[in-house]
Amino acid sequence: MSVVTHTRPLAKMAAPMVSRAVGVSSVRAFSGTPRAQNKVTVVGAAGGIGQPMSLLMKLSGKIDHLSLFDIVNTPGVAADIGHCNSKGKVMGYKGAEEMAASLDGSDVVVIPAGVPRKPGMTRDDLFNTNASIVKGIAEQCAKSCPKACFLIISNPVNSTVPIFAEVLKASGVYDPAKLMGVTTLDVARAKTFVAENQGMDVDKVEVDVIGGHAGTTIMPLLSQVKGANFTEEDIKALTHRIQFGGDEVVKAKDGAGSATLSMAHAGAYFAEKVLDGLNGVKGIKECTFVESPLTSAPFFASPCTLGTEGVSEIHGYGQLSPFEQTLVDENVPALVKMAQKGIDFVKNN
Ligand code: NAI
Repeated sequence: MSVVTHTRPLAKMAAPMVSRAVGVSSVRAFSGTPRAQNKVTVVGAAGGIGQPMSLLMKLSGKIDHLSLFDIVNTPGVAADIGHCNSKGKVMGYKGAEEMAASLDGSDVVVIPAGVPRKPGMTRDDLFNTNASIVKGIAEQCAKSCPKACFLIISNPVNSTVPIFAEVLKASGVYDPAKLMGVTTLDVARAKTFVAENQGMDVDKVEVDVIGGHAGTTIMPLLSQVKGANFTEEDIKALTHRIQFGGDEVVKAKDGAGSATLSMAHAGAYFAEKVLDGLNGVKGIKECTFVESPLTSAPFFASPCTLGTEGVSEIHGYGQLSPFEQTLVDENVPALVKMAQKGIDFVKNN
C-alpha cells in the first residue's frame, strides 16, 4: 500500500505528510539514470573508525578514487592503505587548506569525524564538540561537493544529521534524498544478537531497526523477524541490548573510545550499498536516518530504497507490536527535541 508519493525537492515539502504511519509501505519515490559514480571521501579518515573503514573500502575494489581527509595523519594512512593490491587510487589530504581538494568531485562523503564517548557518557554529551565539527564540515561540503551523498557517522547522529541539513539548506543545496545518518551498526548488532538468541544463521537474519541512533531511540522491530520465536523476556532483553550495545564496547574499552571496528565494517558496508544504488543496482534496501514524513520527528530511521539519486523511497515500518508501538510513542518526542537542538545550534552559531 502506498500512502504518500511525492516528487522532489523534498526540502520544499511542508510539514511531515504522515504523522503516524503504521502499515505504510512506501512514502517517497524517485527515479534516475544509472551512471558510474566512484569518488568516495572519508572525513575523519585517520581516526579509530576512519582508518579501518577506509581500509575496508579500499579492499572492496569498488571505489576508483578513495580520498582520505583528516586534520591529522592522513598522508600516512593514505600511503599505507594505498599499498593494498586492490583496485582504486588512494589520496590523503590533511588540514583545512586541503579539505576542498579532498572533497572536490566526491560522489559519496562518509563522515566519522569528531570525538567518541568515554565510559559514563551518552552520545548527547558529545554534542558541544561534535556539533561545531560537523557544521564546519557541512559548510565546506556545501561549497565543494554539493551534489554528493552525505553519510553521517559522527554522534549524536540524532542531532548531527539535522545540523548538516540546516547548513546545506542555508547554502541552497540541500537534497534530503542525499543526506543519511548511518544506523547500520544498530542493524548489525540486532542481527548478531538475534541470531545468537535464536540459534539462527546470522547471514540469513533480517532485522529492521527504526527511530534514531541513541539509547531508547534505537528501536528494533523484533516482532517482524521471520522465523524467530521470542519469549516476552527475550524481546525485552534483546531490545535493551541492541539499544545499549554501544555501551558494552565503551565499557570494555575502558576509556579508549567507543565502537570502531564494528562501526568501520558497518560504515563501509553502508557506503558500498549507497554507491551500488548510485550506480544503478536495483532493489537495495537498508535502514537509515533521513528526513522522513513517517512520524512527527523531522528525521527518522526506517528501511529505505537506495537508488541512482540517493534515497529513492522511504518505506514505512509495517505493523508494530504493542511493545514496539509504545517505544515509538515514547521516543518520537526525544527525536523531535534532538533534531531541534541541532537546528537551534546552526541558527545560533
Ligand atoms: P576518533 O577520535 O578515533 O577519530 C575521529 C577523527 O576525527 C580523528 O582522527 C580526528 O582528527 C578527526 N577530526 C576531528 N575534527 C575533524 C575535522 N574538523 N575534520 C576532519 N576530521 C576531524 O573517533 P572515532 O572512534 O573514530 O569516532 C568518530 C565518531 O563516530 C564519534 O563521534 C563517535 O561517537 C561516532 N560513532 C558513531 C557510530 C554510529 O553508529 N553512527 C558508532 C561509533 C562511533
